Amino acid sequence: MTNVHNFNSGPSILPREVYEEASNAILNFNNTGLSILEIGHRTPLFEAVLHEAIALVKELMQLNDSYEVLFLHGGASTQFFQVPMNLLDASATAAYLDCGTWGSKAIREAKHFGQVHLLGSSKDKNYTYIPRGWRVPDHAAYCHITSNNTIEGTQQHEWPETDVPLVSDMSSDILSRQLDFNRFGLIYAGAQKNIGAAGVNLVVVQRDLLGRVERHIPTMLDYRQHIANNSMLNTPPVFAVYVCMLTLRWLKKLGGIAAIEPVNQAKAALLYDTLDRLPLFTPTVAREDRSLMNVVWVMEEPALEAEFLALCKAEGMVGIRGHRSVGGFRASLYNALPMSSVEALVQLMEHFAAKRG
Ligand SMILES: Cc1ncc(COP(=O)(O)O)c(C=O)c1O
Repeated sequence: MTNVHNFNSGPSILPREVYEEASNAILNFNNTGLSILEIGHRTPLFEAVLHEAIALVKELMQLNDSYEVLFLHGGASTQFFQVPMNLLDASATAAYLDCGTWGSKAIREAKHFGQVHLLGSSKDKNYTYIPRGWRVPDHAAYCHITSNNTIEGTQQHEWPETDVPLVSDMSSDILSRQLDFNRFGLIYAGAQKNIGAAGVNLVVVQRDLLGRVERHIPTMLDYRQHIANNSMLNTPPVFAVYVCMLTLRWLKKLGGIAAIEPVNQAKAALLYDTLDRLPLFTPTVAREDRSLMNVVWVMEEPALEAEFLALCKAEGMVGIRGHRSVGGFRASLYNALPMSSVEALVQLMEHFAAKRG
């Protein structure tokens, strides 16, 4: 395992100590003689895990008391429709920024529930930039923006000044950079990148936004029901929540978002500098919109892509191939990816450029 560099886009690398603690808990959870996989979710054993996970989210994101923290099922994709189902009346309008593949799916789902006002779109250039020069209409029920576009490698670096509640899909950059999270009405994120294991989904929502729509919401999709039942409306994904709790603990021990952000900046800077320096490699994203989490590039000569990919594979670089809809390469630099992995990739690029450049 030591020679593997895991650049997967999600599920993706988690801290080594999380793997170790989670492995121990499968055999003997907290010295109970029971596996974490066999404890009841309505026991004090699991309740303590859930409470700690929620408290850590509130602490790391510095959320004020108006927020509820939920761990739900169905992945971030369920939020594409659960958000408008809970926040958008049929006759009302929500503003959406069309800045990537995932955001465009969220737009498609929202249209089933109400009206969508498109703020801007970068579809014309395969979502390689963040649209600018738009204004959120005052009458919008909310404004939805994907904070980081995992597939295309762009990131939202400026947020609108507006009184309309901001809703953000932060699946691929949550907890990676400091933001004023209290500016948002609702934040959601699949756990499988910076939060923990796949199978659970974080939702942070301002209590006051709920209960305003007229439609009947099925119990399992109603945020208020999950709040009333403390994310235990039904059996939660116990192990996935446990892995989230361990990962959140790890981040807190490290010094929280303030400590991980400069590390993330340094990792991304090293890789982008290399891409900018070596003519063989071409970053695909507008410089000012580059993501610190997902770095996307193509080869100047497409014929060399297979050779570079084979070299990466031989050197233990995992998950470096670009998304099938974009091609080329993508290195995901999530919180748990060590600087040494980026250094190894950069070395390999330099070696390849010296040979083929
Ligand atoms: C930004 C973003 N939103 C949504 C999703 C979909 O997440 P899930 O597979 O948990 O539904 C992903 C998946 O990678 C993503 O990166």
